[in-house]
Formats: sequence, C-alpha cells, structure tokens
Amino acid sequence: MANITEIVRCPSSHGPLKLDHAEGRFVSSNGTAYSFDDNIARFLTPVAANDGNRSTRAFYDEGGWAKDADGLYEDTKRFVDTRPASLRFTRACMSRLQKYFNKGGQYLLDAGSGPIAHKELQGYGDKFAKRVCLDLSIPALREARRKLGDRGIYLQGDLTNLPIQSDVIDAVMSFHVIYQLPPDLQAAAFRELWRVLKPGGVAVIVYWWAEPKLAWRVERVANALLGKREQETDQTRQTESASVPDHNPLSFEWFSAQDWPFKYKLDVYRVVPNSFLKSSIPDDWRGAAFLGLLMTFQKVAPRYCGKHGLMPAIVVRKSHPSEPSRYIEASVRNR
Ligand SMILES: C[S@@+](CC[C@H](N)C(=O)[O-])C[C@H]1O[C@@H](n2cnc3c(N)ncnc32)[C@H](O)[C@@H]1O
Repeated sequence: MANITEIVRCPSSHGPLKLDHAEGRFVSSNGTAYSFDDNIARFLTPVAANDGNRSTRAFYDEGGWAKDADGLYEDTKRFVDTRPASLRFTRACMSRLQKYFNKGGQYLLDAGSGPIAHKELQGYGDKFAKRVCLDLSIPALREARRKLGDRGIYLQGDLTNLPIQSDVIDAVMSFHVIYQLPPDLQAAAFRELWRVLKPGGVAVIVYWWAEPKLAWRVERVANALLGKREQETDQTRQTESASVPDHNPLSFEWFSAQDWPFKYKLDVYRVVPNSFLKSSIPDDWRGAAFLGLLMTFQKVAPRYCGKHGLMPAIVVRKSHPSEPSRYIEASVRNR
C-alpha cells in the first residue's frame, strides 16, 4: 500500500526515517527529527538570511498562494493571463502533456506543486495511488491537502535535496519551479528528480529558456497581424519583472552542455510567455484564431518548439539498468 513511510528519507544523513506516531515526527538514525503534524512532513528549516532561495520562499509563504474574493491565487493573478482566450490556450497546453501520466502507478511526485492551482494539472494524478506534493510553502501544501485529502502525501522540502528515497517514484512533474532556483543549484534539482524515479519512470519538467528565438519571432508575427500594443507591453513587462520572486532561466546551450546521468527529449509546454499573451493577444476571435494556429504548430513540431520556444517540457526517462534509454539528445540536435 502506498504511504509516506515507504518513500521518505532524511535530507541530511540520506538514511531511513522512522515515524514516531506518539510524538508526531519522523526520526532518523542519527537522531535528527522532523515534525509531522496535520499530515505535512516538514523537512525545511526556517528561512535563513543566507538562503539562496529566500525571496521565492518569502513570496510563496507570505501571500503568493493567498486567494482573493473571487478565489484566484495571488500568483495566478500576477503571472497568468486569465482572459478567456488566453486561459483556454494555457489550459490546452497543460492538457496536452497529460499523455505522459496516463500509465499511472503508485506515486506521482509533483515537485514544487504549489496548491495545484489548475484542475488540468490535478488530473495528472488520477491514475496514481498517491500524489506526493512537495513544496517549500506551507500555505501551498495546506491548500493542496484541502483538494486531495488522503490521495496526497505532503512534504515541505527542497527540490535540490529531496527528502525522498531513490528509485521509488513512478512519475515526476515539476512545472515552473527549477528556473526559480539560483543558477548554481538548478543542475542539482534536475538530478534529484531523476534520482527518485523508479527505473522505467518518466519525469516531465517545464522549464523557461533564456534567449528563446522562436518566442521573439512569434511575437513579431502577432504584432504584425494583430497590431502592436506598445504601452501595454512595456507596462506588463515592468509589472511582471518587479513581481517575480526569483527568475533565473538558463539557455538550451547550458542545458545541453551538462553531463547528465540521463537522456532526455524535448517536448513543448508553451512557446510564448504570459506577458506576450497579455500584451499582444486581443481577447476576441482574432486572438483565439492566432492561439489556435500556435497550438497546431506546437502539436506538429513539439521538439522544435521545445528547443527554440520559451517553455520546453523536458522529458526524462530513467532506463532499466539493462536497457539503453529510448530518448536521445541527437533527436533534439538534428532539428
Ligand atoms: C510558479 S509556482 C508553480 C506551481 C505549480 N507547479 C504550477 O505549475 O502551478 C512555483 C512553486 O515552486 C515552489 N518552489 C520554489 N522553489 C522551490 C524549492 N527549492 N523546493 C521546493 N519548492 C520550491 C514555490 O513555493 C511555488 O509553490
């Protein structure tokens, strides 16, 4: 039966943890204890002044996942274009990646889950016994717990040092998280997600490339066809850049130059940012038609869009020891 004690490990000793029911805590063999109350296991110490992820933690702890009177999260309000045509497109981008999670299994790790802000993302967990929600924000985990109840496992932990044993997770999703980390910690996060996967498991990581040439081209085409809304563009960018807690995207060249222990293929989440949707897409039939064409392009050329667009879905599969990986970087480079 899937449960929390089967998968957690001590993030400092990397050894096993025992659940002390009476005290409501996990204890490692070296005596380190981690509280486990309200069904949330807490593997993070309070934010310290030298924490490289400090502003992200502060943002998501202090209101990033608070809801307004309409039930909209602050994070969604600030960063997602919620006008109908744009939101339909964003939701379709999420639904398109559901295919990687259809096999199901025991555990889906949602690394940097937030509160599971979109129902399309919640659906990824339907075929798994448990969704393991990991986040550094307690308000996010409480909200995820409200939605999933017993179908979830809730870990307050750090993506760069997961409190999870190796080879125990059937599938991993990590959307819009790794580019929030300091640049020198991002490779460790990719490796951690791969480490916890069972052989044969798949991880889908939505990232944000620096210098996405295709996004710039799409923007130019949209501005030529739909008319440029200069003032709004600049305003939107200023708002977004002032609000983003931490934003450290690295390039495809950086990613492909790493000595990864895994092979990968590129798919696409979305080639353009929300700031583009807000500034260049009118919320009418013309905007909807343009985004419909863009979606068709993403479906027809997912690898090209994943390499040159803004937000790739990096698909990592952990091969069985005896089997070569089915995903080869060459398929990315040749396009
Ligand atoms: C932009 S939100 C994305 C939430 C969700 N994945 C989604 O796509 O809606 C980023 C989330 O990652 C979490 N996060 C950022 N850095 C993290 C880290 N080092 N370890 C765990 N979670 C982290 C934040 O607290 C926040 O909830």
